[in-house]
Amino acid sequence: MKAVVIRRGENAPTVADVPRPEPERGEVLVKTLRVGVDGTDHEVIEGSHGSFPAGQDYLVLGHEAVGVVEDANGTSLEAGDIVAPTVRRPPDDGTNEYFERGEADMAPPDECVERGIDGAHGFMAEYFTSPAETLVSVPDELAEWGFLVEPISISEKAIEHANASRSAFEWNPDSGLVLGNGSLGLLTLAMLDQRGYERTYCLGRRDRPDPTIDIIEELGGTYIDSRVTPVDQIPDAHESMDFVYEATGYAKHAFETIEALAPGGVGALLGVPEPWEFEIDGGKLHKEFVMNNKALVGSVNSGVDHFEAAVETLADLPSWLLEDLVTGVYELDDYEAAFRDDETTIKTAVQFNQI
Ligand code: NAP
Ligand code: BGC
Ligand code: ZN
Repeated sequence: MKAVVIRRGENAPTVADVPRPEPERGEVLVKTLRVGVDGTDHEVIEGSHGSFPAGQDYLVLGHEAVGVVEDANGTSLEAGDIVAPTVRRPPDDGTNEYFERGEADMAPPDECVERGIDGAHGFMAEYFTSPAETLVSVPDELAEWGFLVEPISISEKAIEHANASRSAFEWNPDSGLVLGNGSLGLLTLAMLDQRGYERTYCLGRRDRPDPTIDIIEELGGTYIDSRVTPVDQIPDAHESMDFVYEATGYAKHAFETIEALAPGGVGALLGVPEPWEFEIDGGKLHKEFVMNNKALVGSVNSGVDHFEAAVETLADLPSWLLEDLVTGVYELDDYEAAFRDDETTIKTAVQFNQI
C-alpha cells in the first residue's frame, strides 16, 4: 500500500510502497480517509523532533487521522464506523504503569512511542491498524473534519490541566491570550470563545492582510503583533490575562507568559522548542510568580477522554471557521502541497479516500 514517509537522511517526505498491516488480536483494520499536517510534522521532517522506529530507515508520517473501520476483527467496533486514533502506544519493550492506568498522555518520552512522530509508524497510509480501545468514534457527519479531533484534543487536555491548577479557589477567567496563530493556536482561540471567555487575544508576527488575522478578528479576538508588543508588555498595551495558551514553540514565551498573566492566572505551555540559551531575570520572575499565585502547566499529548471531548467541541465549531482554517485537502498524488508552509497555508490534510 502507499504511504507518505520521511526517510533517514532526507528533508522532504516521499510516497513509498509499504506492507499493508494485518490486525492482530484486539486490533482493528482502518481504511484511512484523511490525515492532517501540523507544526510537529514539520519538526519531524526537519529532524528536530521525534525518531524512526527501531531498526528502520523510514517513518510513516501522520498523527492526526480519521478513517473508516474496514475490519473490526471481533472487537466492539463495526465495519463502516468512522474513527480517530490516539497517538501514543507502549514502548517496544512492553507496557508500563502509565498505559496500565489509561494515562498514556502522562508518560515521559522514554516510556512511550508516538505514532507518526517518535519511534512508531503513523497513519499517513492507505490503511492502518490500531487497538480498538485507541479508536474514538466520530459521527458520520463530522468525517470530513475528523482529522481535527486530535489537535482539538491537545487543547482539551491543556485547558483541563490549567483549570485543575486553579480549582482550589474561585477562578472565573474572562481574558484569554493565545500565543501563536498556527492551526493549534487558532483552534484554541475558537475554543476559548466557545467556553465564554469575554475577551480573547492571539499573538502572531505577520503583516496584514493575512488569513490568520482575518480568522482571529472574525472570532471576535484582538490580534497582537509580537514585533510591536512583546508578550511581557501585553499587560501595559492591553490587559493582564487570566489564561495564556502558548502554541508558538518560541522558548522566550514560556517565561514572558509569567509577566503577561493576571494575579491568580495560569499559562499552559504547548510548544516543543529546541535548546536555546538566553538571559532572563530569574529573581524577578520567581517573585512575580509566587507573590501573585500564578501557575504554569506544561501539557503534551491527549487521551481517549480528551478525544471524546474534542468530538463534542468539533461539532460546535462554526462551519465558516473550519472552511477558512482548512486551506487545502490534497489527494495522495498531490501530497507535497499538504506540506507547503507558506503564509496562505493554515491547516492541510492528505486525503486517501473520498468521504
Ligand atoms: P505552527 O503551525 O508552526 O504554528 C506556530 C505559530 O506560531 C506560527 O503561526 C508562527 O508564526 C507563530 N510564532 C512563532 N514564533 C512566534 C513569535 N515569536 N511571535 C509571534 N508568533 C510566533 O505549529 P502548530 O501546529 O500550530 O503548533 C504550535 C506549537 O505547538 C508547535 O511548537 C508544536 O510543536 C506544538 N504542539 C505541541 C503539542 C503538544 O502536545 N504539546 C501538540 C501539537 C503541537 P509564523 O507562521 O508567522 O512564523
Ligand atoms: C501531537 C501530540 C504529541 C506531541 C509531542 C503533537 O503534535 O499532536 O500527540 O504528543 O506532538 O510529540
Ligand atoms: Zn500534533
